[in-house]
Amino acid sequence: MIKTYPFTLDLLPYAYDALEPVIDKETMEIHHGKHHQTYCDNLNKLIGDMIDLQGLSLQELLSSDQLPIKNNAGGVWNHDFFWESMTTPGVSQIENSLKVEIEKAFASVEEFMAKFEAAALGRFGSGWAWLVKNKEGGLEITSTANQDNPLVDGLTPLLAIDVWEHAYYLKYKNKRVDYVKAWWQVVNWDKVEERLSP
Ligand SMILES: [Fe+2]
Repeated sequence: MIKTYPFTLDLLPYAYDALEPVIDKETMEIHHGKHHQTYCDNLNKLIGDMIDLQGLSLQELLSSDQLPIKNNAGGVWNHDFFWESMTTPGVSQIENSLKVEIEKAFASVEEFMAKFEAAALGRFGSGWAWLVKNKEGGLEITSTANQDNPLVDGLTPLLAIDVWEHAYYLKYKNKRVDYVKAWWQVVNWDKVEERLSP
């Protein structure tokens, strides 16, 4: 769905407690209802004063040369994407066609997971780790700082983990590693597959 100004916060595709015990209800309420909402509100405030930008899509605003617009547009886009990347723990499995693509790029699912975790843990400060499809159609892992987005570099996001402390601090405290390793249980692989072959 193409989003344009004024931007509204979508409801989560599941209940706030749906990702328990991996991601607790309170974290989800604050993350969606406060952090995500604030990116949305800030973006509307910024764009509200700039009539020439009001026709641009959210995706187009990701490459704005005005940092506050880029950051808040990324905050809205990335979280929309993140919520849809997750589902109730244990209900989603990697199906064959996705597995084949992962093995082609990373040799094995285990190797892919290890590299993705390394990207998530290696991101200093706040940001994201991503599984992306490159321009040649192959899979790659990347990470971005703050609310930056790989679309800007011509890559197609397939999966992302938010590694800002607000995503995990209430439950996991400073143990990002525990959050990242537990997070695999809530990945919505069906959604990843859909993004790979739309
Ligand atoms: Fe976040």
